[in-house]
Amino acid sequence: MDILRGERLSEFSAEAASYTSSIDSDKLLVPSVIKINKAHMIMLVKKKILDVREGYGCIKALEEIPEDIAMDPKLEDVHMNIEALVVEKVGETIGGQLNLAKSRNDQVAAAIRMKLREFLLDILSALTQLKGVILERCKEHIKTIMPGYTHLQHAQPVTLAHHLLAYCDALVRDGERLMEAYKRVNISPMGACALSTTGFKIDREMVSELLGFDGLVENSMDAVSGRDFAIEVISDLAMLMTDLSRFSEELVLWNTHEFSILEMPDEYASTSSIMPQKKNPVVAELIRAKTSSVYGSLLASLSMMKALPHSYNLDLQELTPHIWDACQITLSTINVFSNMLEKVKFDEERLLELVKMGMASATELADTLVREKGIPFRASHRIVGALVKRALSEGKGLDQLAKEELDKIIKDVTGKSMGVSEEVLKKALDLVENVKARSVKGGPSPEEVSRMLRARRKVLRDHDDWISKRRGSLLLSDDVLKKEVAGLKEVMET
Ligand code: ARG
Repeated sequence: MDILRGERLSEFSAEAASYTSSIDSDKLLVPSVIKINKAHMIMLVKKKILDVREGYGCIKALEEIPEDIAMDPKLEDVHMNIEALVVEKVGETIGGQLNLAKSRNDQVAAAIRMKLREFLLDILSALTQLKGVILERCKEHIKTIMPGYTHLQHAQPVTLAHHLLAYCDALVRDGERLMEAYKRVNISPMGACALSTTGFKIDREMVSELLGFDGLVENSMDAVSGRDFAIEVISDLAMLMTDLSRFSEELVLWNTHEFSILEMPDEYASTSSIMPQKKNPVVAELIRAKTSSVYGSLLASLSMMKALPHSYNLDLQELTPHIWDACQITLSTINVFSNMLEKVKFDEERLLELVKMGMASATELADTLVREKGIPFRASHRIVGALVKRALSEGKGLDQLAKEELDKIIKDVTGKSMGVSEEVLKKALDLVENVKARSVKGGPSPEEVSRMLRARRKVLRDHDDWISKRRGSLLLSDDVLKKEVAGLKEVMET
């Protein structure tokens, strides 16, 4: 007799079973489903809804189930497969009580939340590791001058540390978003049962605590049908991937012959099957593409939810694989990116050569005229613009123009002659001085970037502490669950 369909329905067609089964994406849920069943049994015994023989009988059977169980699609999902195994091991008189006062609906939502919180902690750990690598790379390049770009045109000189730190700061926010989402992931839907709780006097809080949740998803209909917690995480992951994709795009660009700013490590590049000279930045390319796959998961999940009537519908099952895809892609991306970035070789001389080619100190020259000569900024902007035009037409850099030319242009624009000293002019055009002068909070000056690096290290330590605390409290609840099981065993044996 089919454990689920019983007398109600005749046999499921193999085709329909394989079409509707969730056993593939349920593989990741096995350990959580086993824990949930144990915690539920403990609660039912403590609340005297089941006797110890029934509760412990089920638990003992659950303990014999390996994590990699072969699942039968005709049993639809992990929940029915596990229940069938328990019944097979201990018979229906005991095993048949496993699903008392719970449903697959609250159980799957709980199991997803448990697996997802694990992914969140792994992703956050990988992320702090990556941010650590970025900070190390920044430390090497606090004084490495390079062109800062806007519109992909030379804008003003910055340092490579300042540039890389911009990515680190975006990733800090990405991490904070995930830490914030954790609060909404780690709450328990257990006890909601199918949708309306149960007439048995269960203790939802007890199950929640045994499973390491920080509270309840209170309304039972919300508990079984909400997936906003997952969509929030996928959305945060999509943002995180966007930041890694931007970074990867820049690595691809900087790795070109035209930019020649960096060289990818051999271990993270590939070659061509026909063009022997090639060294392709394939990892960075795929990060860009995998980012789009995460967007796909986000959009698929949102679309699945938007027209779902309350409460549980099997549509929800189709959302689960998107959660795992987004988590797995993001986790592997962070790890591979981190290892790759550690070995990227930046060419400091090339960066200097590039910044010298442009006119990146033009703003500082205009600012200097305001400071030194009291010229309104708009006028000095015009003066330096004319100077740039002249330099370009003569194929020279700003620093190669004679001081007299500047003096003449100032006179043309303002109608007054007011020479600028050689010394002032030289300082305004000096790239190192340009960067040094930008010591305003958040600017590229070496001392300001050093201060930011120190502050970011503290942020990373705080994030690591946060992660350790969460891991610690999950381990603690695992211990409590084990102790409760041992307690039941003791009662059985005496
Ligand atoms: N496999 C289902 C899921 O992943 C579990 C709940 C099924 N509930 C049901 N009534 N068919 O969402």
